[in-house]
Amino acid sequence: MRNIPLCRPDLTEAEKEAVNEVLGSDWLTHGPKNVEFEERFAEYIGVRRAMSINSCSSALFLSLLASEVRGEVILPSFTFVATANAVVAAGARPVFADIDYDTLNMNPDDAAARITPRTEALLVVHFGGQACDMAAFQDLADRHGLALIEDSAETLGGEYHGRKTGSFGTGCFSFFPTKNMTTGEGGMVTTDDTDLADRIFALIGHGIRTTTHDRTASREGLPWRRSADWPGFNFRMTNFQAAMGLVQLGRLDRMNAARQAHAEYLTRALSGRTGIEPPLVRPGRTHVWQMYTIKLSEGLDRDRFVLSLRERGVAASVHFDPPIHRQTWYAAQGYDRAELPVTERASGRIATLPMYPGLTREDLDYIVEAVDLALEAPRAGA
Ligand SMILES: Cc1ncc(COP(=O)(O)O)c(C=O)c1O
Repeated sequence: MRNIPLCRPDLTEAEKEAVNEVLGSDWLTHGPKNVEFEERFAEYIGVRRAMSINSCSSALFLSLLASEVRGEVILPSFTFVATANAVVAAGARPVFADIDYDTLNMNPDDAAARITPRTEALLVVHFGGQACDMAAFQDLADRHGLALIEDSAETLGGEYHGRKTGSFGTGCFSFFPTKNMTTGEGGMVTTDDTDLADRIFALIGHGIRTTTHDRTASREGLPWRRSADWPGFNFRMTNFQAAMGLVQLGRLDRMNAARQAHAEYLTRALSGRTGIEPPLVRPGRTHVWQMYTIKLSEGLDRDRFVLSLRERGVAASVHFDPPIHRQTWYAAQGYDRAELPVTERASGRIATLPMYPGLTREDLDYIVEAVDLALEAPRAGA
């Protein structure tokens, strides 16, 4: 029996050498590698500024805080709970909108219907590697004067009509090991707004505009003097993580191309099966397949299907069930009364299959075979 994990980071000797080089230097916290990583990342996404940070969760939180969003924020419930937790942490109120069943991304018409005079921001989530309908969301944000924040944790390198996600509003990225590239833990904030960038950069390091490295290297004035412009945090990414990130970023397009080839192979092999629906890519999108998500037909027992794949060594999983409005804390606040019929239906039908650059042809064939066997098992009530 094969053992195929859900995700596997793609690391080479180059990442190890880069980290070791920094470990051999005197500078371990935010330093020269961060500066280089931030410049290269901004260039890759196509924005003026990028700020390295310790996680996407912190990126989301600071994006809201720095934009002074305190009212209602419209976001999907069909996402990882970190997206909504950041809204609550920033002192704002989540308002959940429904999704499209085909892409599992937030539906712009449903989001529009939930806008009130209290709405201050749209927080879109590019699910699993595919961009949301950014023309529609940008238009909504412009017409209603709302901040536009993109949770792009699951879509690094993905495009909407040739433009990278994270370049439309304030982009928030994750380098958690299951993502398209990794630094162990870590993230990045991207924006074209240089004032917002300055604020977020300072908030990452206690609200002080200069870094320890700047002050240590400075020969001007009284470099030890520090003054907080805002009450900030310590959300810094280390210099050795940034060194690893630089190598991963240099390999990102190749890693994403491998994911795209695997996804194409799986979709071809799984198309036409009764009982499952392979993922759909909308026109104008470059999908980067952080996840490969299928949907089971009504009448099939999704949980038994996933368990059956796991028994065969295929570490399938479910993203996301329960959706956020049904999770304990959110349900206790009454969010479970929200009407989200597509979210409810999708969360009961979806299953995530393994997806990472290092999958082999044999692995992919084994996954397809395991899906066929698992499809025989889970007839509901059988
Ligand atoms: C959509 C989404 N948002 C936020 C996060 C949180 O990212 P991090 O683990 O870097 O805080 C994740 C990752 O798990 C995610 O999938």
